[in-house]
Amino acid sequence: MSAVDQLQHDVLVIGGGGAGLRAAIAVAQEHPDLSIGIVSKVYPMRSHTVAAEGGMAAVIKDNDSAEDHIYDTISGSDWLADQDAVEMFVEEAPRELIQLEHWGCPWSREATGHVAVRPFGGMKLQRTWFATDKTGFHVLHSLFQTCLQFPSITRYDEWFATKLLVDDGRCQGCTAIELRTGQLRPIYAKSVIIATGGFGRIFPFTTNGAIKTGDGLAIAYRAGVALKDMEFVQYHPTGLPGTGILITEASRGEGGVLRNNKGERYLADYDLGEPLPLDDPRHPQLRTMELGPRDRLSQAFIKEQEKGNTYSGPYGDYVHLDIQHLGEHRIDTKLPFVRELARNYGGIDPVTESIPVRPVVHYMMGGIDTDIEAATSLPGLYAAGECACVSINGANRLGSNSLTELVVFGARAGRNAANFAHAADPAAIDRLESQVDDERARIRRILEQPSGGERVAELRRDMTTTMEEGAGIYRTQEGIEQTYATLSDLRERFGSVDLDDRTNVYNTDLISALELDYMLEISLALAASARDRTESRGSHQRTDHPDRDDDHFLKHSLAMRGDDGTPEVSFRDVVITKWPPGSRTYGSSDQAKAATTES
Ligand code: FUM
Repeated sequence: MSAVDQLQHDVLVIGGGGAGLRAAIAVAQEHPDLSIGIVSKVYPMRSHTVAAEGGMAAVIKDNDSAEDHIYDTISGSDWLADQDAVEMFVEEAPRELIQLEHWGCPWSREATGHVAVRPFGGMKLQRTWFATDKTGFHVLHSLFQTCLQFPSITRYDEWFATKLLVDDGRCQGCTAIELRTGQLRPIYAKSVIIATGGFGRIFPFTTNGAIKTGDGLAIAYRAGVALKDMEFVQYHPTGLPGTGILITEASRGEGGVLRNNKGERYLADYDLGEPLPLDDPRHPQLRTMELGPRDRLSQAFIKEQEKGNTYSGPYGDYVHLDIQHLGEHRIDTKLPFVRELARNYGGIDPVTESIPVRPVVHYMMGGIDTDIEAATSLPGLYAAGECACVSINGANRLGSNSLTELVVFGARAGRNAANFAHAADPAAIDRLESQVDDERARIRRILEQPSGGERVAELRRDMTTTMEEGAGIYRTQEGIEQTYATLSDLRERFGSVDLDDRTNVYNTDLISALELDYMLEISLALAASARDRTESRGSHQRTDHPDRDDDHFLKHSLAMRGDDGTPEVSFRDVVITKWPPGSRTYGSSDQAKAATTES
């Protein structure tokens, strides 16, 4: 191939969702002379950011402060967040949200015209900005239309990145399959940003779209970068049974309550504060009970289930989310999407009936190990968004911090990757050719596997089943080890995976197989990290080690891919600046604080 046919950019962004688009804009603004490529396996407006509902946290109101946002985030993380990163995140957040407004994001407003905020789980003050309950849609749209202004950005929509190209100790691009033709092409770059989102699809029941298969994590891991804090899996307490569609936490922020099959607001039994009568003007402004953090609420569901206090239905057990008392006008104004989803996918109208809900895998706290600058240990490689672990979320992310994380760290990744590329030599294309050939051969082997082998769908079902069994809300050593063994076996079986479609054009069968390969890889890293963290913290609850153990585990786990392809786990100290580890309280003292600060 001649030099002119080579696909080459200064900065390559892999992923076209919120973090990826924000990063690309930052590159274009930092160094307008740089050429930027965005590789996305779907058209960018179909990235999972579009599905985000409830809002974005940032300090804007006079009764709020950076100190409060920082403290809520750190205690919510069960002290596993790096405090320097949280401080920087909180500091940069308001500027990024105002920037989104300037790019067209229609924030919901108060009658005065000021930006409106709503309560969200684990946040002791109202600081969640929102665009009704379709915040992700509006944010993604604003970023996408802004990207269109920059001629320096070239998009590779419906291209699937399969491998990072590394030479001379630095990342120099990736290989990617153009889905329309099936061709695998190298795309060379001086620096690369991974922004491919999370990997909820390794579990059977998730809010995550089908595209969230962790490909970006796997290619970084295979290139020698560690995966950090993989054991921390967030279950959102209110998913619709059957589909897993999210019923936003904003429905509880607006005053919705959870009830068990006895009609009780059962969270009163779980050290999350006192239930206020629904007509008390302070409900739901005091962030307790239903506005406790997600890990605690999901764990309470399991306890209620064990007591026989949940309903059973065709898609498993559930409890009721009741928003009827908000009234039709408020529901239609503040939660129109919740009503639409409940009607279309649950067959019920929340104006007159309670919504059945159950915990659902929603978000991964762990990801590609990055520093506060969004840089990985591999020079020239950056990561941002859910695929990355900085870490600001620690053992449990607070709702509405993640969209903010996309833009704060997307922008940082963009600026830093731009500066790296500005100073770097071009990719050494000749030296990278053999890596591209190897990747072509790997994919050809999968396509040419003799028939009669393993089925992608069956391997994927077995993977998700074992993940839920061994690495779900409550875990044990024995359960995790069993999951690890099953995953290892599935990896062996993947070696003879057999496709129905062996053609080139839009071969989704091949893409599913590649995604499965990546998911198995990172699931093993998750299981190994969960096995080695013998304590309970945030979303990682070990019934055989029920207490938090700061003496041994105030540390991030780091899973590196060993020479034999299996994960090797080590630990690194958490960064503590000003907030020594304490206990997480969401009870009466916090009710008092919220009452004081908001009166
Ligand atoms: O419930 C929600 O709207 C989710 C928000 C989030 O995960 O940040």
